[in-house]
Amino acid sequence: MNFREYKVGARLFSFALGSSMVITLLFPAMEMGAAVATDIALDKQLSAGRETGFNYDDPLMLGWGKPSKVLVSADPVSGQPIPATYAYVYPAGTPFPSGILHPRTLGSAGAGLSEKVGRVGEAQKKSGAVFLIKSDEQKHFYIENATATLGWAPDAVLKAALDENVAHVGAGKTQFVREGCWWCHTLLPEQTQDWQVFGAPPMLGDFNGESPTAFGSDRKAPDLLHVASRNSSKEWMMLHFFNPRLVQPHSIMPRYDYLWGEKDATGAKIDFNKWRAEYTEYSEGKRADAPEVPSFAKDSRIRDLVDFMLSLK
Ligand code: HEC
Repeated sequence: MNFREYKVGARLFSFALGSSMVITLLFPAMEMGAAVATDIALDKQLSAGRETGFNYDDPLMLGWGKPSKVLVSADPVSGQPIPATYAYVYPAGTPFPSGILHPRTLGSAGAGLSEKVGRVGEAQKKSGAVFLIKSDEQKHFYIENATATLGWAPDAVLKAALDENVAHVGAGKTQFVREGCWWCHTLLPEQTQDWQVFGAPPMLGDFNGESPTAFGSDRKAPDLLHVASRNSSKEWMMLHFFNPRLVQPHSIMPRYDYLWGEKDATGAKIDFNKWRAEYTEYSEGKRADAPEVPSFAKDSRIRDLVDFMLSLK
């Protein structure tokens, strides 16, 4: 009788352990990879290219071997106007993402359509390719290899597009990972009151083939998954990255002025020391206005990062 509690406890314990083992054994049946990729997953995958972060294609994490996301409003072959569409341009030699290399990651419907209708198997890394996101009548999203289906060559698409319609989203995500933005920011609004402030949480199927997801470790700053829906100003992003205190006087966010590089948009050398001296005068109240932030060059790393931020809708 004295040890009755232990017997009850032991039975409860073995029941808990047993059920947890059953869950462990059955859970792999709900394989994440079986989820069908949403259009969001396809967009993220095609705009980021093969995995971001440290890898052999880009050991210094400078954004090498990344595709561009291009807004196309005329057929690059015939020059005829077409409804505005996003094309994901992989110049010759750019590594393809998993959806192209292993269409299985798109889930059954997407994989079948991408292979049969989209002809993704014909894409060649050596000569590059241009991809589009399409859907059939049942709203199954798939990838189309426009180089095979429409004859769109990567160089022709880039040549036909205005620079303002070319977004270096993949290279920007690399900057996001390398600069450690995820140390403070998440890319994961949760199903709590979070979504009322930061927007809808993602769904299963939004991450197919994404590597890394950059969910973030813990949150010291606003979630950024939908940041461009609440703020799509390139100007604001520029000021904020050069020195967050210009727009948020008490911000703890570090400045990222070094991502501007040596020269501004006009090709003139940026004098960081002069800027900082003037900014100090301004913050001490000895100057009425803050010094002007240099506009960034087309090939600067900050351009990539801003392109990535503005893609987060
Ligand atoms: C030390 C923590 C920290 C780091 C690291 C950091 N941030 Fe921030 N960030 C903040 C805080 C705090 C805010 C809110 C105050 C403000 O706007 O400055 C913020 C705001 C922002 C906003 C505006 C968000 C909104 O809701 O409008 C953007 C965009 C942003 N950060 C991007 C970045 C990017 C990109 C990086 C990496 C290059 C980065 N941050 C690194 C702390 C951080």
